[in-house]
Parts: sequence; structure tokens; C-alpha cells
Amino acid sequence: MDRKFGSSNTARSELLGYSNMNKIKLIFFIALLVMFICILAYLKTSTIVYPILRYEQYNCSRYCSAILNGDTAALWLGERCEKQKPKIFHVHIPVPINCTRIKLENHFITSSLSQEEASYPLAYIIIIHQEFEMFVKLLRAIYRPQNVYCIHVDQKSPKDYQRKVKTLSDCFHNIFLASKMEYVVYGGFSRLQADINCMKDLVNSTVAWKEVINLCGQDFPIKTNREIIWYIKNKWGGRNITPGIQQPPHMKYRTEYSYKEEIKNSKAKIYKLNQKKAAPPLELTIYFGTAYYVLTRQFVEFVLEDARALALLEWSRDTYSPDEHYWVTLNRLKDAPDTTPNVSWDGDVRAVVWAPHAGPTSHDCKGYYRNDICVYGLRDLKWIIQQPTMFANKFEQTTNPLTVACMEQWHRDRILNQTSETIQPHWYLQD
Ligand SMILES: *[C@@H]1O[C@H](CO)[C@@H](O)[C@H](O)[C@H]1NC(C)=O
Ligand SMILES: *[C@@H]1O[C@H](CO)[C@@H](O)[C@H](O)[C@H]1NC(C)=O
Ligand SMILES: *[C@@H]1O[C@H](CO)[C@@H](O)[C@H](O)[C@H]1NC(C)=O
Ligand SMILES: *[C@@H]1O[C@H](CO)[C@@H](O)[C@H](O)[C@H]1NC(C)=O
Ligand SMILES: *[C@@H]1O[C@H](CO)[C@@H](O)[C@H](O)[C@H]1NC(C)=O
Repeated sequence: MDRKFGSSNTARSELLGYSNMNKIKLIFFIALLVMFICILAYLKTSTIVYPILRYEQYNCSRYCSAILNGDTAALWLGERCEKQKPKIFHVHIPVPINCTRIKLENHFITSSLSQEEASYPLAYIIIIHQEFEMFVKLLRAIYRPQNVYCIHVDQKSPKDYQRKVKTLSDCFHNIFLASKMEYVVYGGFSRLQADINCMKDLVNSTVAWKEVINLCGQDFPIKTNREIIWYIKNKWGGRNITPGIQQPPHMKYRTEYSYKEEIKNSKAKIYKLNQKKAAPPLELTIYFGTAYYVLTRQFVEFVLEDARALALLEWSRDTYSPDEHYWVTLNRLKDAPDTTPNVSWDGDVRAVVWAPHAGPTSHDCKGYYRNDICVYGLRDLKWIIQQPTMFANKFEQTTNPLTVACMEQWHRDRILNQTSETIQPHWYLQD
């Protein structure tokens, strides 16, 4: 009995000891968990103890190369940086205006970088309406002294913004504002008219540009100036590039009925009228494609003068999103200069990631969608830099400043790595 009791006592004390141990472990574990949660909560709100994630006190762009490699830890840290919407970049405009300083302090490349590039000048049409910082980043990525740049600033953008763009442009011999600027309505004819306004200025330019490329303020290059020239010359033999196909049935609504642009209480929109349109002029076959192009100077001169081109322009005035049929339709003509009548969606002009319901998608957007198009985030960068296209759309400085900064740094490094010229210190980005 004693033995029995004793043994059961031992057993109980063993049992007791065991469960005590368990309790201690449990308490310890809970304490750890609470501590962990507290730390997390603290880190989330703290601005003092966690300066590592305060951009003002820390340099987030140091993670860029790891982010581009898809490094998990760097992406995690980078996204914490991004969430704080750091003001990563200020455009330096000294007062009084000193153009030498503007070019130096904003890291503009002031040399053509190679003989090949010097002898193949490009023209750019850049249509912008917001985000001055993003515009400067785009401009300094594509700027070379041998090229020429026509900037179209939307009439609806703030006067202060327009002034800043003008101030910057005036510092460069080869950057100018369009002599006529439109109030641009998304999806409307005014968007096409803006391009044409710039073309009229560009054909009068003394710069011997060979091809013109159009951009909007949220584009950013994936390729360098040198690679863009290689692509146009070697892959396309210096001909026009306008990805697109014959107008498919589900796009007919755009040209079957009249549309009207309206600006009301400084809100612009386009709406359909109950009015059927006549057939396209001069038996033209309407195509459908992207609004982004590469066009030769000869072709641009043709577009501004040819009777078919002018008739199509007039007919397009009341169509929906005419820039998505105008260029590709004319570039499929057999008897116009430098056209490519036999191609379809070929042309690595733009990487655009559509929302799943809006178009074919080869990549999952890791940023967010605006107007059904992906605004890229940090986790998209690894994919972007592997794309064969010359440019990617969309980048946004205000919401994803670190993404833009990393993209820019990668692109600038690529430029500097491709030149045999002596690199000037101010060509390195250090924002
Ligand atoms: C930020 O980090 C980058 C990359 O490591 C470095 O090149 C740059 O000098 C740093 N900038 C500052 C202000 O520390
Ligand atoms: C503009 O800045 C440059 C470089 O800092 C300087 O050498 C030059 O004297 C300045 N020009 C004027 C008019 O201040
Ligand atoms: C281009 O030059 C022609 C001939 O000099 C002139 O008539 C035309 O107005 C100019 N166009 C623009 C947009 O400056
Ligand atoms: C386009 O295709 C047509 C008929 O298939 C052919 O005759 C023509 O040579 C082609 N043009 C080019 C530029 O390849
Ligand atoms: C520079 O380019 C060379 C040759 O294309 C490449 O091997 C090298 O990795 C590049 N370096 C950097 C830093 O990108």
C-alpha cells in the first residue's frame, strides 16, 4: 500500500512536475508572443526607434539591386519604405535660374555617348499633365544632346506645373514646348491632335532626326538610347513600328457612331452620340492597335500632307480613341514611305500590363491598377527589366517613388556601362 501510495505519489509528482514544466513553457511562449506583437505594433507606429524605415533618415535606394534580384528581405524592407511615400526626389531648380546648375544637379547626360548614337538622332513627343518629378526622371533617362524633344503640356494642368516645365525646357537647345497645346480628353481626338501638333513643330526642326517616338508622362525606358537605335535599325530596318491588326468586330463601336468630347466644370469626358458615322474615307481599311509608335521623318511628313491621311484625320474627329486606329491604319498603306503593311502585333514598343478583364496578360500586376493598367510596384521590377520592349507603362512617382527610383538607377547604370566615353561625375544618380 505504502509502496503503492509512494509509487503513485512519485507518479503524481512526476506528473505534476511535467505539467508544471508545460505551464512554464506555455507562459513563456505566451509572453514571447505578446512581446512580439507589441514590438510589431510598436514598429508600425514608431518613428523614433525604427529609423531604419524612415526614409528621411535612411537611404532606401540602397536596397534597389537586391530588389531587382527579387530578394525577399530587400523587398520587405523596400515595401516598408514605399509605404511611407518618401519624398525621394526633388527637382533642383536654383533661383535665379542657372541652366548649367540645373543640368548638373539633376544629372542630365550632356554627351551623345557614342558615334553611332550621335549619327542617329531621335525625336520624342512627350504628352504630360501631372507629376513634374516623374517627368524629369523620364526626361533625364532619354535625354541626349543630339536628339530633339517636343513637350505637350495638357491645358488642364495647373499653371504652376506648366511654368516649371517651361523653365526646365528653356535650359536646353533641343527641348521645346509644342507651339499649340490641347485640353486633352482621355479617349478623345484631342489626344491625337496633341501628337500632330508636336509633329508639325518637329518637321520644322533643324535637328536631323530620323524617327519619332511618342511617350506619356508615366512611361519609363527599359532600353538605353543605344539599344533603342539598335532595335529600330536592325530589327525593323528603320521602318515604322505600329503594333496592330485590322479592326476586330468588338472594336467597331469606336468608329461606327459619333463621339463628342465635353469639358464641363473643368471635368473632361467623352460620350457617344446617337448618330451613325459614314464609312471611312477613300476606301481606307481601318486598323486597331496601340497609340504608341516609332515613325520615320519621311512618314511624318507624308501624314501631314497626304490627302488620305488628312481625310482620315477629319473623319476621326468624332471617333472614340482615334490614336488607336490612326497611326496603324496609315502604316498599313502599301504606297506610303517606310510603312510595314504585313505585320500585326509585332513591335516591342511598350510593356503594358492590363487588368485581367481588359486584355491578355502575361504578368500578374504586383502594384495596382489605374484605368485597367498596372502601375508597377517593387515586385514588378524583376519582370520589367527582363522585357524586350523599349519602354514600360505605368510608373507613378507619388504612389511608388522607390519603384521609380530603382528603375531609374538600374537604367542609368545600364547607360553608363554601355559607353566607352569618360563618365562625368554628375552622370551618376545619387538621389
Ligand atoms: C544610398 O545608397 C546608394 C546605394 O548603396 C549609394 O550609392 C548612395 O550613395 C547612398 N546615398 C546616400 C545619401 O547615402
Ligand atoms: C551657374 O552655375 C555654374 C556652376 O555652378 C557656375 O560656374 C556659374 O558661374 C553660374 N552662373 C551664373 C550666371 O551664376
Ligand atoms: C513650319 O515651317 C513652314 C515653312 O517655313 C511654316 O509655314 C509653318 O508655319 C511652320 N510650322 C510650324 C508649326 O512652325
Ligand atoms: C506583303 O505581302 C504581300 C502579299 O502577301 C507581298 O506581295 C509583299 O511583298 C509583302 N510586303 C512586304 C514589305 O513584305
Ligand atoms: C556591363 O556590361 C557587361 C557587358 O555587357 C556585363 O558583362 C556587365 O555585367 C555589366 N556590368 C554592370 C555593372 O552592369
